[in-house]
Amino acid sequence: MTIVGILGAGQLGTMLADAIHALGAETRFYDPEASAPAIRRFVGGMSGPWTDLAHLRAFAAPCDVLTYEMEHIDTDGLRSLDIDVVPSLDVLETTQDRLREKRFLRSAGLPHVAFMEATSPADLVTRGREFGFPLIVKTARGGYDGKGQWRARNEDQLDLVAQQLEQDLGPRFACAMEAVVDLEREVSCIVARAHDRSVQVFPVFENAHEHHILDWTLVPARISPAVARRVQAIARTTAEALGVVGLLTTEFFLSRTPARGSESEPVDGIHVYVNELAPRPHNSGHVTRRATSLSQFDALARIVLGAPVPEPTLRGNGYYCMGNLLGDVFAGQTELDLGGLACHEELLEIMLYGKLEWAPRRKMGHVIANACDADRALAAMRAIRGSLTLTPERPSEPPPTQR
Ligand SMILES: Nc1ncnc2c1ncn2[C@@H]1O[C@H](COP(=O)(O)OP(=O)(O)O)[C@@H](O)[C@H]1O
Ligand SMILES: [Mg+2]
Repeated sequence: MTIVGILGAGQLGTMLADAIHALGAETRFYDPEASAPAIRRFVGGMSGPWTDLAHLRAFAAPCDVLTYEMEHIDTDGLRSLDIDVVPSLDVLETTQDRLREKRFLRSAGLPHVAFMEATSPADLVTRGREFGFPLIVKTARGGYDGKGQWRARNEDQLDLVAQQLEQDLGPRFACAMEAVVDLEREVSCIVARAHDRSVQVFPVFENAHEHHILDWTLVPARISPAVARRVQAIARTTAEALGVVGLLTTEFFLSRTPARGSESEPVDGIHVYVNELAPRPHNSGHVTRRATSLSQFDALARIVLGAPVPEPTLRGNGYYCMGNLLGDVFAGQTELDLGGLACHEELLEIMLYGKLEWAPRRKMGHVIANACDADRALAAMRAIRGSLTLTPERPSEPPPTQR
């Protein structure tokens, strides 16, 4: 029996495990959080810090291969284990550090938003003035769901960001500055690249964010065929240039105006920029559970287990919309009232992640709807989500951990 070790035991890991089990293999989970969803749901999970080598060794011992569902993992311990990690730790180390990731995009000649690096608060302030306003400051490490990034419209605001970062980061100060893009749309594209270097590219997803957190994903994206082809080609080249074996999600910014200082040839009047990369299943890819012939989780399971990956094609002719259920929907309740669902024939899936504690912007679940056109798919997702909303009743102290 093949055993796949999964680093991180959140919702992405849970859904990946289901896909691995569907191919006859077993999984084991490792997560610093003992109450993480997949640790509670599946047998044999272990909990401990990424730096506890003895623990990691014991975890990896029965496993044939390791993969990961999160990027904020300390790789030093993993490096000393004698086991294959898919995608490789080199890939993970590039993508878990925004500066390394952006340097990679630049050296590979991939279209990206021009950036500058800063390694001290004084550096940030001087270079920021040089760079021009408005700008966005992003910490090199630890950012997700908009955490670790700040907008500065002028020098005063930049000074405040520099002071804040000095407090937060101390000697580990490292961040990128980039221009604010006038967004026409955000899209993402998942590429599955197998050990034999064969590549499958998923359809392009359109993404909308609220407070920097993914709100919904729509597929197919409302972009022209030429823009979709450009996005897919860049996603494929990115996975190849990075040498990914496994999954790579590339997030893109689409804009009608060129981003300050950035190079890109527009297609159908649209400038296409790579924003960031994730070498793992991605929140926007939840929609593939229903929208495509195989899901992102099926694709990664097949690669990890050495099975060929068929082409992921769209099911049917309609539009599919995934809406995140953030903690706000749950508002301290542990059960949802499903009474209002009977009237939603567009409903395909309500997935709850089984997190023990809610927090206002924590990802607690998602819904997927399907309809004949984009507007109806979006409206159906919103109506379903609306019918799940409960009366706010927040605990006095929100739990500190968020994912
Ligand atoms: N340079 C930018 N211009 C305009 N919007 C941005 C820019 N950078 C980030 N954003 C917005 O913030 C969201 C989150 O930023 P991102 O860099 O993807 O970080 P993360 O997803 O890791 O929090 C983006 O999806 C986008 O909506
Ligand atoms: Mg992002």
